[in-house]
Amino acid sequence: MTGKTSPESELARLLPPTVRLALEYFAALEDPATPVVEYLPPPALQEALGLSFGSEAQSIDAILAAAKTTLRYSVRTGHPRFFNQLYGGVDPAGILGEWITALVNTSMYTFEAAPVGTLVETALIERMNRCVGYTAGEGEGIFTPGGTISNLMALLAARHRVFPDAKRLGIHALEQPVVFLSAEAHYSTPRAASVAGFGTDAAIPIATDPVGRMIPSALDQAITAAKRNGQTPVMIVATSGTTVPGAFDPIDPIADIAERHDLWLHVDASFGGGVLFSDRHRHLMAGVERAESVTWNPHKMMGLPLACSAILMRVPGTLEATNGMHAEYLFHGAEGPTCDLGDLSLQCGRRVDAFKLWFSWMALGDMGYARRVDRLFDLAHTFQGMLDERPGFHIIREPEGTNVCFRYLPSADRSLAEEARLRRESDVTLAVRRRLLTSGRFMINYATLDGAATFRIVMSNPRTTDVDLGGLLDAIEEFAEVLP
Ligand SMILES: Cc1ncc(COP(=O)(O)O)c(C=O)c1O
Repeated sequence: MTGKTSPESELARLLPPTVRLALEYFAALEDPATPVVEYLPPPALQEALGLSFGSEAQSIDAILAAAKTTLRYSVRTGHPRFFNQLYGGVDPAGILGEWITALVNTSMYTFEAAPVGTLVETALIERMNRCVGYTAGEGEGIFTPGGTISNLMALLAARHRVFPDAKRLGIHALEQPVVFLSAEAHYSTPRAASVAGFGTDAAIPIATDPVGRMIPSALDQAITAAKRNGQTPVMIVATSGTTVPGAFDPIDPIADIAERHDLWLHVDASFGGGVLFSDRHRHLMAGVERAESVTWNPHKMMGLPLACSAILMRVPGTLEATNGMHAEYLFHGAEGPTCDLGDLSLQCGRRVDAFKLWFSWMALGDMGYARRVDRLFDLAHTFQGMLDERPGFHIIREPEGTNVCFRYLPSADRSLAEEARLRRESDVTLAVRRRLLTSGRFMINYATLDGAATFRIVMSNPRTTDVDLGGLLDAIEEFAEVLP
């Protein structure tokens, strides 16, 4: 493109073929012959991409060709056989919102820079707070780049309550702070403990039950022990939808403990927050309204395009007290100080993630999200039934949410002794998973549970069918039975 063409004419030439490309891309997801990924190892992918750019301007056709190649070799996360991550599927209204965000290209710090974004985000946060069950007069929040940052912001707010001087004095104000989380909680909390100056050792893991839920009595004992050791408990994190087994920690009994010890309760519902829409599954988060803060990622169970995450706080004013820097050059408070969201955030420039959730919520409504969540839970239940029926497969954690963790033992190995079995199952998981990936037929992740690599399937796409699930088990058997 030369410097002589106007943005309008460039866009007029780029957009129609891009829309056609997008429509072809989405149509292909409906075709069973479309691979989840055309997998190429890094050197081959490098060659396929060409990656030529530099001093010379290139034509629109070259750019469109690069877009086509990008779509061709990227993982099709909207494919019904993509089970690899905690997100998946396609949200058309959400995608439109994402495009509008790029078109508007503004930053969320002030009302004057992002008037529409500010009001939309404020309305969404208000609505999410009502879903959590915060009552009138309670609730504030802000969109963040993801659950990791939302969890960090919760920890910083809890730190601010216990050690208000830490904002000025940093680690010098801290007195052996510790936080408590389930042994299966996400690594973002230990990382937040590191960032906040506590150190990762300050994140104390609490034992879980066979489903993967935190055991409240173990939590209570750990808090008492920490106090006895001279440590300062700062926060408890209950997870709603753990990353691997998808378990929901029992919030109500954990909230009782938090109250007894006067501790900040944070609920990390990054993954599972969507259950709040479902009459059938909302009980999994019973007691969430008692939390001081909640992380909720609509980009996971609710299917929004990445990234869409919010940190919600029960007490208004908490975020500003924790993070506010009152930069005079930026915040002029022309429309009233509460209209500028920037001082609630850790960021300065902040993209508008609110449009996509707004449009998606308009398109689906609460009922649409409820149907989506219920469908994902039903798929996990169906899959569990399939595993129970098939010889060689067994479930490793009793599934509570939309994830199922399982292993497979080939028929020739079923008389092995316990330890050798475990080793074999672990090897089979790793080898078969790789074959599934490179064949492009399925993508499913693994994690180590009870000392062995274990398949973790995540139901993330309502368009997944029983045929897809049966096909996955067929493929696992097919690859596993011929392993050396
Ligand atoms: C339970 C939980 N919390 C937090 C996160 C981090 O969220 P994000 O990837 O949006 O930073 C994840 C990510 O998978 C998660 O599973």
